[in-house]
Amino acid sequence: MSEPVAIATSPEHIPGVIIVGAGIGGLLLGTILERLGYPYRILERATEMRSLGSAMTLSASVLPVFEQLGLLEELKKISFPCYLLDFYTSNRGFYGAINMETRKGYTGYDTYIFSRPELHELLRKQIPEHKISLGKRVLRTEEIGGRVSVHCGDGTTWEGDILVGADGAYSGVRQSLYKRLEEQGISLPKGDSEDFTIANLCMVGVSEPQNPAKYTILKDEFSHFSTTFGSKGVCSVVSVPGKRVCWYLNKQLTAAEAKTQKFRNTEWGPESIDSMIKEFENVSCPWGGNMGEIIRATPRNLISKVFLEEKVFQTWFHGRTVLLGDACHKMLPGAGLGAVNAMQDAIVLANCIYNMEDNSLKSITAAFQDYYRQRYSRAVQSFQKSATWSQVSYGLTWKERLMRQVMMNCIPSWVHQRAEAKDAAYRPQIAWLPLIPARGSLAMLPQECKRVEDKKTAVAV
Ligand SMILES: Cc1cc2nc3c(=O)[nH]c(=O)nc-3n(C[C@H](O)[C@H](O)[C@H](O)COP(=O)(O)OP(=O)(O)OC[C@H]3O[C@@H](n4cnc5c(N)ncnc54)[C@H](O)[C@@H]3O)c2cc1C
Ligand SMILES: *[C@@H]1O[C@H](CO)[C@@H](O)[C@H](O)[C@H]1NC(C)=O
Repeated sequence: MSEPVAIATSPEHIPGVIIVGAGIGGLLLGTILERLGYPYRILERATEMRSLGSAMTLSASVLPVFEQLGLLEELKKISFPCYLLDFYTSNRGFYGAINMETRKGYTGYDTYIFSRPELHELLRKQIPEHKISLGKRVLRTEEIGGRVSVHCGDGTTWEGDILVGADGAYSGVRQSLYKRLEEQGISLPKGDSEDFTIANLCMVGVSEPQNPAKYTILKDEFSHFSTTFGSKGVCSVVSVPGKRVCWYLNKQLTAAEAKTQKFRNTEWGPESIDSMIKEFENVSCPWGGNMGEIIRATPRNLISKVFLEEKVFQTWFHGRTVLLGDACHKMLPGAGLGAVNAMQDAIVLANCIYNMEDNSLKSITAAFQDYYRQRYSRAVQSFQKSATWSQVSYGLTWKERLMRQVMMNCIPSWVHQRAEAKDAAYRPQIAWLPLIPARGSLAMLPQECKRVEDKKTAVAV
């Protein structure tokens, strides 16, 4: 084994942070620490940065932070605003729609849609190349002598003051932390040691540029987000800049099917996609043609398939180790909240680290407690909303179909709006950068972390 690489700490009261996982949450945390000038290193399992994934959305709950970081204009370049979600039956019959256009009035922001690979790339560019180490699969972590160390599959070891597990649903950092706790006789809440329940099978991709003569909606400078309820599952097509089409196929698994999926692959990857393509290729696309044409216009190695689980873990931190994003709360994609919550975690955790008085375990624990206090109940709320919207969007049982009818066609839009407004009022922002004021008619909730302004006043007194 090679010598441990220490993530340097100078001056001494500033912690050296090891971030495991260069996903959306890990990269945003890295971006914030980079701007703050704190020492950090990102360890990523993948050997190359692959452009996988499909459409994602961001709105008022995270966009102010892009504004604080001066990245909102760049985000706009890769995004389209989305004003409407429309839904169809399997033979292109109109089913219902959800209006998103009114949101701007009260939140001050449109809902932006972009492809995950482009957001991933935008964030990756904020971080100097040498601070992301690829091919580092974390196997084991330990805490000794007032430091935390991380052992990777390639024999390297890394040492720092704080370890952040941003390594997704099957987090190696979480598994290692829970194992250590059990060895120390600290019992975990029952749910934390149980398996995920697999709920959905999902396949995603982003097509090559398509001809607007074939799909006329591609001429628009805003996104069309169209979903078809088929007999076997649900398909969505989403237009993004560059005349490309992001697509999702989603299949709900029955309890019996889920049980047989023991071989589940835990990575987003292009394995065994053919059978699922077959099931969906003849479903008609609301924009013309069928889904097969769009899937075949996507480079094969950029199509990925994954089992989607849902769970909120209760144990998010111990000692010098803390989790964020999918590593501690995996949500179904129906409400588009997985990335939003990972990013809000990163923002709040960065604030709590910034507010640490020194590098002692006591300060670190206080910071993690504050992070958990601010984020846990929010994550649970988003988790519940994701579960409901996933049933409404993908569910195939008669009960779920009925729920869908009611949600889309009977509930007046002001009810949806009121729920949205409540979520949009929560906008955690970076504590040491000027606060972005509320841009719409809706008031923001007060910031929970001590801000740089508060610190200055404290010094003046
Ligand atoms: C390739 C990919 C494609 C995705 N596509 C979509 C999509 O189309 N739609 C959608 O809604 N969600 C998608 N997701 C999930 C979505 O990104 C997350 O739900 C959300 O953004 C939360 O992000 P996260 O940072 O917590 O986790 P993730 O974005 O999942 O990132 C976790 C990162 O940790 C790395 N990692 C995992 N284990 C280890 C280990 N042991 N050691 C080191 N590194 C490790 C992973 O390679 C990954 O880069 C995708 C995730 C990935 C990884
Ligand atoms: C889809 O339709 C084509 C053309 O009609 C047919 O050849 C193909 O077998 C169909 N695929 C499936 C899986 O039914």
